[in-house]
Amino acid sequence: MRRLRLAAALLLFVALPLAAAAAGGRTSTAAPAAPPAPPNATAAMVKGGCKAFAALIAASPDASSTYASAAGGGMTVFCPSDDAVAAFAPRYKNLSADGKASLLLFHAVPVYYSPGGLKSNNGVMNTLATDGSARNYNFTVQNEGNVVTIKTGASGAVARVKSTLLDADPVAVYVVDRVVEPVELFKPAPSPTPAPAPAPAADAPKAGKGAAARHRAAPVVADAPGPDADDDAPPADQKKDSEKNAAAAGAPCSRWFAAALTAVAVGSTVLA
Ligand SMILES: *[C@@H]1O[C@H](CO)[C@@H](O)[C@H](O)[C@H]1NC(C)=O
Ligand SMILES: *[C@@H]1O[C@H](CO)[C@@H](O)[C@H](O)[C@H]1NC(C)=O
Ligand SMILES: *[C@@H]1O[C@H](CO)[C@@H](O)[C@H](O)[C@H]1NC(C)=O
Repeated sequence: MRRLRLAAALLLFVALPLAAAAAGGRTSTAAPAAPPAPPNATAAMVKGGCKAFAALIAASPDASSTYASAAGGGMTVFCPSDDAVAAFAPRYKNLSADGKASLLLFHAVPVYYSPGGLKSNNGVMNTLATDGSARNYNFTVQNEGNVVTIKTGASGAVARVKSTLLDADPVAVYVVDRVVEPVELFKPAPSPTPAPAPAPAADAPKAGKGAAARHRAAPVVADAPGPDADDDAPPADQKKDSEKNAAAAGAPCSRWFAAALTAVAVGSTVLA
């Protein structure tokens, strides 16, 4: 009888830490599941009347890689209809490769806006073409009655949002009736007041003028993080890792201590 009880105590001694280890293992590996791939904005454009614009993006490696990497962090695309792209073709062909990429990236913002969110977030928005204060590439979104419009300081006409092609958080795609002209590439509208002096480049990003640097820019109005927000926070991740390691290193000691206490308690009950 006594032997049986001792065996039971020994079992507890072995089983408790194992159970604790199993439970600990479960909680520490319960990392959040990988997020599903974001919806394919290009496919929505091809299907929904922005085939020409999607083809221009596909022909620009700079633009297509930025569109692809921005989608996961939230993105709203304003794609000009096929008619609008055809009407703009002569002026588009006139742009340099870098100008073409900037114009394409200018038609998306690094924030997801549902149709309702778009109507309630009027104002200046930075785009995927924005690179700090050196390359503003922003436009102004406004409601005119029930219509959402996009305008810039360039002399080109105001673009209107005509329809929703895709609304699937974190990506939305809207069709606009014209190519939106950034003031950085096209003639500015005549202004009664002289333009203000350019701001000092104190907060210009360290990275170069490539697409990777450009799409890092945070939106001016909305405070949602840009597509690369996660990449910019290695210290927090490292801290988390070192805490995890410390916890992992400390855990077995306390488990064995608790198990030993239990064994002693059980043992003394048995012997009493
Ligand atoms: C998105 O759709 C386009 C056009 O249908 C296709 O060429 C591309 O490979 C798709 N991209 C992804 C990541 O599935
Ligand atoms: C192309 O660029 C040249 C030089 O900047 C300009 O004179 C011409 O008007 C432009 N053509 C079009 C179609 O925009
Ligand atoms: C938008 O861009 C223009 C130049 O194109 C710049 O003067 C203005 O300060 C920018 N606005 C914001 C809010 O960044």
